Amino acid sequence: MTRRLLVTGGAGFIGSNFVRHWRDNYPHDYMVVLDALTYAGNCENLAYLEGEENFRFVRGDIKDAALVKRVLETHNIDVIAHFAAESHVDRSILGPRTFVETNVLGTFTLLEEFRYYWETQGKPVNYRFLHISTDEVYGSLTSDAPRFEETTPYAPNSPYAASKAGSDHLVRAYNHTYQLPTIITNCSNNYGPYQFPEKLIPLTCINILMGKSLPVYGDGKNVRDWLYVGDHCRALDIVINYGEPGETYNIGGNNEVENINLVRMICQLMDEFIPELPVKPAGQLITFVKDRPGHDRRYAVKTSKIRKQLGWTPTMTITQGLRLTVQWYLNNREWWEPLLSQEYQSYYQRNYKTDN
Ligand code: NAD
Ligand code: TYD
Repeated sequence: MTRRLLVTGGAGFIGSNFVRHWRDNYPHDYMVVLDALTYAGNCENLAYLEGEENFRFVRGDIKDAALVKRVLETHNIDVIAHFAAESHVDRSILGPRTFVETNVLGTFTLLEEFRYYWETQGKPVNYRFLHISTDEVYGSLTSDAPRFEETTPYAPNSPYAASKAGSDHLVRAYNHTYQLPTIITNCSNNYGPYQFPEKLIPLTCINILMGKSLPVYGDGKNVRDWLYVGDHCRALDIVINYGEPGETYNIGGNNEVENINLVRMICQLMDEFIPELPVKPAGQLITFVKDRPGHDRRYAVKTSKIRKQLGWTPTMTITQGLRLTVQWYLNNREWWEPLLSQEYQSYYQRNYKTDN
């Protein structure tokens, strides 16, 4: 069976990795990417698909109901993979409004237009709305607490997490009320190729290359579970094909690491890969800076539901995945250099102003 997918946010980090995964595995499927190309969206990520018969790129906003309706109808979409979002916690602290607008209102608009379209088509049972969300909706764990499960109550702490939680609730309600075939996935911190430079792993690699300080928030002992983006895309593929509508699946990498240890691992890799760095060993650049307001201590998800029900497990260890990722940033300077724009510099100044 060939599918006709609408991938929102497909020019961003995870979305573009997902498009690549889907194209490699289902070359005959039709894909439309709808992306507003915000600071985080980059059409270079999809340039290799230009001119392909079964691929379309539409620049536009998920809050534009008329556009969403037109895209669904024109391209006979049967699966929405919804990645589009404002995704960075630090930016949500500096300016929460766009997070509510895109993550809550944008998701609402997509749901409403998809519902209308699905009902008009006679409620086909094979249609899917996959909503990609985060483990941050569950709040923060203490160091010895059991990992989040799909049944853990929501307790979002940042404006970003609250906006994602709001969108998750709407997705759930559309399934419960209208039987719209929605599925939610809540994943842990992704890493890998094509991640925007402001996130911890690329930021650390790039700052080492430039001899800039490596800002570590607070005491550096906050823990994140790291999921390689390729493992994540494989999980989303399985969820689209075999997941149960109305269900939620947690997706994690089973790789919990303290931030400071992660940064040290990257420093070691850079020391190993590059004979001449502006500052070597790179670990000398580590600088503890003022903590992020409301900084969650630890996130980690249990992945037993998706393992038992759908047979998915992550394959990449953080040691292997970091090696690949650091190498990718070293080999793809021409991808990230243009992203260190004026806008990026001014964000950087605002976010790290007291310490850098
Ligand atoms: P990203 O910031 O790299 O990309 C987001 C994309 O959405 C960009 O291409 C951007 O242009 C587009 N976009 C933003 N607002 C839009 C709008 N109003 N209309 C249309 N397009 C818009 O994000 P990412 O890291 O790839 O994350 C993708 C999804 O996964 C998000 O929903 C995020 O909440 C979720 N998630 C990410 C992580 C992670 O570690 N990166 C972890 C858990 C969940
Ligand atoms: P981030 O990549 O922003 O993801 P999230 O906040 O969604 O988990 O950050 C990962 C962790 O790294 C988080 O605990 C915050 C921390 N961090 C720093 O210590 N310094 C930094 O400059 C950044 C961007 C993040």
